[in-house]
Amino acid sequence: MNKISQLISLLGGTGAVAEKLKIKPSAISNWKKLNKIPSNKRKDVLELGSYLNINIEHFLPTQKLHNFKFKILLIISGGIASYKSLEIIRLIKKTDIELDVVMTKSAQKFITPLLVTSLNEKKCYIDLFSIEDETKMNHINLARSPDIILVAPATANIMAKLANGLADDLASTILLASFSKIILAPSMNPVMWNNLATRDNYKKLLERGIEFIEPDTGDMACGESGKGRFPEPRAIFEFILSYMRENQKLSNQFQDISIIITAGPTIEAIDPIRFVSNKSSGKQGFEIASELTKRGAKVTLITGPVNIPFPNCENVIKVKTAQEMLDNVTQQLPADILICCAAVADWRLIPKTSTNNKIDTNNKIKKTKEKLLFEAIKNPDILETIAKSKLRPKIVIGFSAETSNIKNNSYSKLISKNVDLIIANDVSNNKVFGEDFNKVFLIYKNNYEQWEKQSKKSVAYHLVNRINDLLINYNKRAVNA
Ligand code: C5P
Repeated sequence: MNKISQLISLLGGTGAVAEKLKIKPSAISNWKKLNKIPSNKRKDVLELGSYLNINIEHFLPTQKLHNFKFKILLIISGGIASYKSLEIIRLIKKTDIELDVVMTKSAQKFITPLLVTSLNEKKCYIDLFSIEDETKMNHINLARSPDIILVAPATANIMAKLANGLADDLASTILLASFSKIILAPSMNPVMWNNLATRDNYKKLLERGIEFIEPDTGDMACGESGKGRFPEPRAIFEFILSYMRENQKLSNQFQDISIIITAGPTIEAIDPIRFVSNKSSGKQGFEIASELTKRGAKVTLITGPVNIPFPNCENVIKVKTAQEMLDNVTQQLPADILICCAAVADWRLIPKTSTNNKIDTNNKIKKTKEKLLFEAIKNPDILETIAKSKLRPKIVIGFSAETSNIKNNSYSKLISKNVDLIIANDVSNNKVFGEDFNKVFLIYKNNYEQWEKQSKKSVAYHLVNRINDLLINYNKRAVNA
């Protein structure tokens, strides 16, 4: 009797398994014949095993995720469920995923770093101020290298620290210093979970793009009942696997697609030390560049002067003026997609004397008793120029920063500049510029969407999904033409 036949009989036989999994008995017979369970049924079979309280993992081949260079950092914070994270480590160790583990001080009251170290066959990190660790693998490396940081269990305390930017130990410092996807699996007493402070922290973290594996509802170790129970380690493991699979699928979504993104402000010199510009930080454009790069696009980012780190995209070109930005965009054509995120200075100012004479702008303009006048010269509109040119990319997307009448003004721009999509936002009262959050409208020719306020990272993620839809529609139209 082969392994899978043994497994099926342990689970009640062909008929019973077929009925429970709602599939034909002939399919189960096939599994037995081939001694193999199809990967899309593996989870159902494991769940059936756990429902029947039978440990069946050793019957199933190790789930190896080949070509899957994924790194996870598991942070174990201190709660009654800390011991369950050992099972998560065990499950991850059966895959190709690289795993590092950090424990908080209170987690060490429940399980020991030695136990974690022997399970993970790797040092477990516990100390922010360890001279030995900081020389080998410092906390910034621990924060930067993983694809996912999983906090499991996540206590109310670690949620509060992250929501409020506290960094008083290794775990909270890593969470604050990381660009990685953060996933929290909370576990706490139901009253703590429902406390308004925890609710507020939860909402804040969600808005910042942090993902939650929701706690289960049921009886707690403390004797109370309600929402707050740590989800089954296997459910957490499966959540992580499906996140990675989705990521892997998305990583080729924009393969061979060339994309030009303009971002940041432009600055227009008046003389060697004075200039006209605006408050754009470049954050939204950089997030879009980063998301598109993750999905396999060849991104050229053309940016005005900003003070944020550059994303890891194919090409970054630094410019100062609107004219330089236009010249560089033009040089990068043809491209499949153009996204004009930059807040281009609409005018450059030419200083003049009160008698309308030009002033030497190669040197600093001197203060005199005479009135100083400026002639405003309109800068080229990069978006409109390219959208109406012969080399117009397949998809052209613009942004629209408005202080009033957002939808109507943005729709007019969509039509007059000949673009496919405008992302509009309200910048009245200093909103948006420089912030980490954005509340946007998406204006298309025939419809519009209004999105909830969310992090610029999250806007980028969802926007890239919409860009993919636009590209699919473009390709369909091209086929039918
Ligand atoms: O007309 P308005 O400046 O509001 O249009 C905003 C959109 O046009 C943005 O996508 C911006 O990047 C683009 N734009 C441009 N060149 C300009 C002005 C705006 O590409 N000179």
